[in-house]
Amino acid sequence: MADVSEDIEKAARLVLEATYVLALVGAGMSVESEIPPFRGPGGLWTKYGEPDMRGYDRFIADPKGWWESIVKREGYARDLVEGIAQARPNPGHFALAELEEMGILKYIITQNVDNLHYAAGSKNVAEIHGNIHKLRCVSCGRRFERDEINMEVIPPLCPHCKGYIKTDGVMFGEPIPPDVLKRCEDETGKCDCMLLLGTSAQVYPAAAFPSLVRRRGGSLIEVNPYDTALTAACHVVIRGHTGEALPLLVERIRSLRK
Ligand code: APR
Repeated sequence: MADVSEDIEKAARLVLEATYVLALVGAGMSVESEIPPFRGPGGLWTKYGEPDMRGYDRFIADPKGWWESIVKREGYARDLVEGIAQARPNPGHFALAELEEMGILKYIITQNVDNLHYAAGSKNVAEIHGNIHKLRCVSCGRRFERDEINMEVIPPLCPHCKGYIKTDGVMFGEPIPPDVLKRCEDETGKCDCMLLLGTSAQVYPAAAFPSLVRRRGGSLIEVNPYDTALTAACHVVIRGHTGEALPLLVERIRSLRK
């Protein structure tokens, strides 16, 4: 990683000046945990092409057929599931858990479905695209651990409202579940400093949150090895990998706080 000490210094001071710090996280955060990103070098969409927007419509039209089809995972789905299965949190995830523990980081809005923030010890996490380990009822919105649902019946049904159960991961064309979207909007409404960590900032509604913070006079800090759709709007850009840069940022914040 190039010498980022000056940027780390600026970022640490901005974080300490702020009152309500959030992190917006993308696939780049988990690349150092050996999970491929979606876009750019080594991206799943780069390799397989971006899926069409009718995934959710296909589920709704034929939930039984959909459940039968996902048993034989192929292409990007297989790579993503296998990547997540072997993944462990990396120093970037642990650095965010530490910032939360220090009372500085108030919430994480993650686009990742890999559960690695919780695995690293973070508690305040909004999973805007769902969690790969969970299931969700498309009618009442309740979420379940996999062992809470009778998978002998295909399609599986909600034990409360008999609605159809799907994986919690938000599919292309699927609306973001209203409870998690409200949490993200409420947290963003309080935020005066947002860390943009390993996201290309191309997918909405998540990509809109930083602009809302900036519009209200808040500061934006980006950690990414490459330019993104929001680089120009950021006050500080740390050109590097989150697994290396975030521990340095936490260390500098700790020393400045003394
Ligand atoms: N550290 C920091 N950033 C990194 C690293 C790293 N080690 N490696 C790659 N990156 C950056 C890339 O430069 C890129 O800008 O992470 C970003 C990953 O971008 P995407 O693959 O587009 O991931 P993301 O922004 O999370 O995509 C949003 O799109 O396809 C949907 O549902 C999917 O949640 C996903 C959403």
